[in-house]
Amino acid sequence: MSVLMQQLRETVSYIQKKYTSQPAVGIVLGSGLGNLAAEIQVEAEISYNDIPHFPVSTVEGHSGKLIFGELGGKKVVVMAGRFHFYEGYSPLQVSYPVRVMKLLGVDTLLLSNAAGGVNKGFKVGDLMIITDHISFFTVNPLLGKNEAELGARFPDMTEPYSKELIEKAKAIGDKFGYNLKEGVYTGVTGPTFETKAEYKLIKAVGGDAVGMSTVQETIVAVHAGMKVFALSVITDLGIREEENVITHEEVLAAAKEAEPKMTNLFKELVAAL
Ligand code: HPA
Repeated sequence: MSVLMQQLRETVSYIQKKYTSQPAVGIVLGSGLGNLAAEIQVEAEISYNDIPHFPVSTVEGHSGKLIFGELGGKKVVVMAGRFHFYEGYSPLQVSYPVRVMKLLGVDTLLLSNAAGGVNKGFKVGDLMIITDHISFFTVNPLLGKNEAELGARFPDMTEPYSKELIEKAKAIGDKFGYNLKEGVYTGVTGPTFETKAEYKLIKAVGGDAVGMSTVQETIVAVHAGMKVFALSVITDLGIREEENVITHEEVLAAAKEAEPKMTNLFKELVAAL
């Protein structure tokens, strides 16, 4: 068995000793979007620090944890805190928890993130259903030897984001009057926000929003045959004509504003699965 498979088995067997039910849905919450965790009837929590082979957190006091429990009548596992490439994690580490979820029995993955809007029709606070992505300088997490046990060497990517889940989410958005946007997410490495020229380029190549997460997790999930749904909260607008300085504080504040809508959408979507 390869080192990766060996590690995954050890991680999974540790978790299964602490939590014996099988989660069906995995959820990864983006920056400033952690509140969904409060909606879960928690059955177990495991700190990342305690899980063998989990990436070690770089941020002191913010190690993150896996939360297991029930949401909308389904068994879920939530990552409270994700690993970003810009923090120095390898693409393999960024996507490791997704593989763990798959081996725990998860077949549907919901992802959220904060993103900059480059579509002129977007405003701060909008929710954008990700219909497709462009991996823009992000490193493909499947580089290297393929783990045939996890998925194919050359995965098809014509529908990385499940059309069925998108339709369900749109129906929920209509029901609650959320005016959901749809668009292409452009994944960049960060940690710099984009230059004016880069925002323009991203728009020109067909992006509607840009952010520093999600793409690597989605690729690994698709490789493993999981259904993916992803949602961006538009926290800033890269292509505003006026002076446009973007700060992390502004991004977090906008995410907080939009969070109740996002939380409700995810909750309803899980219930509708
Ligand atoms: N660019 C990249 N990542 C982001 C942005 C942005 O404008 N906003 C939130 N995450």
